[in-house]
Amino acid sequence: MLKRRDILAIVLIVLPWTLLITVWHQSAIGPLLAIRKGTNDGTETRHETGPATDSKEYCSQDKDIVEVVRTEYVYTRPPPWSDVLPTIHVITPTYSRPVQKAELTRLANTFLHVPNLHWILVEDSQRRTPLVTRLLRETGLNYTHLNVETPRNYKLRGDTRDPRIPRGTMQRNLALRWLRETFNSNSSQTGIVYFADDDNTYSLELFEEMRSTRKVSVWPVAFVGGLRYESPKVNAAGKVYGWKTVFDPHRPFAIDMAGFAINLRLILFKPQAYFKLRGVKGGYQESSLLRELVTLSDLEPKAANCTKILVWHTRTEKPVLVNEGKKGFTDPNVEI
Ligand code: UGA
Ligand code: MN
Repeated sequence: MLKRRDILAIVLIVLPWTLLITVWHQSAIGPLLAIRKGTNDGTETRHETGPATDSKEYCSQDKDIVEVVRTEYVYTRPPPWSDVLPTIHVITPTYSRPVQKAELTRLANTFLHVPNLHWILVEDSQRRTPLVTRLLRETGLNYTHLNVETPRNYKLRGDTRDPRIPRGTMQRNLALRWLRETFNSNSSQTGIVYFADDDNTYSLELFEEMRSTRKVSVWPVAFVGGLRYESPKVNAAGKVYGWKTVFDPHRPFAIDMAGFAINLRLILFKPQAYFKLRGVKGGYQESSLLRELVTLSDLEPKAANCTKILVWHTRTEKPVLVNEGKKGFTDPNVEI
């Protein structure tokens, strides 16, 4: 005959094991390996995930056994992929500086929520750096890693310095060339192209708005041009007829880089369209590309007829590192 004490002992031994096995079973079948599509140009591209791990912690409270199960999903997980949605090719120029890894981590954390996203990250550097290479690999995102250095002291005739080449322009142009060399204009591949600087803030809704872009879609951008936001002007018929900006509203396309997306087909059909590198006044860079692709009447307003803010032109403060001194105080081998 089992005594009460024996029954209690059995329950105390068996119960935690039952729970443990249940939790293990759920975690093992949950994150099944996903294989996703991606572009492969021989450079870095990865599409895989690993199994999840669980940690368990037991707390005793007044002789009751309370189980706290913490499911630690692996730090990278596959972004969702669908066979029917167009791919969003996000082009990001980036350059080495103390906050670079922080910026790219924030971006990756956003992009991991977006289905069918392909990140084309273009380093403004002589070589692809180990920092960015590792970061991309570890995100689990679909990506292509490129680089081109903006010439710093590029000389025109004799001693004349090149007028400032706008930031990120050569990098965006390289990504456009990569798209044209990778995708055939007759192919059925559907896609959207978006230029996402590494320091801005992007809502997830923005990506679903741009996904239906037929030619070029547009929306407002916060914190540009000395305003809370700049926006395309949209009439009652839902057509863009001008620009609600203070800075030069007569620009052909008075819109920030973060305020439009382009259908990949248009990029492929107009192979000569690039951002102009030289002789472009400040604020005219976006127009230099868009005027090659569309006219005002072609523009498709998104974000509830341009009444919603889904992207913010945020800029990260430069960190104060004065206490590092000339030789550096902290361990230079620790990557930040
Ligand atoms: C504004 C616009 O929003 C940019 O789209 C435009 O490229 C830029 O001005 C310009 O024409 O100079 P802003 O915040 O002033 O943006 O520029 P950054 O965020 O510093 O740079 C834009 C992008 O270029 C970023 O992704 C940045 O990482 C990259 N960049 C910047 C480089 O690749 N190399 C550099 O030397 C500087
Ligand atoms: Mn910026």
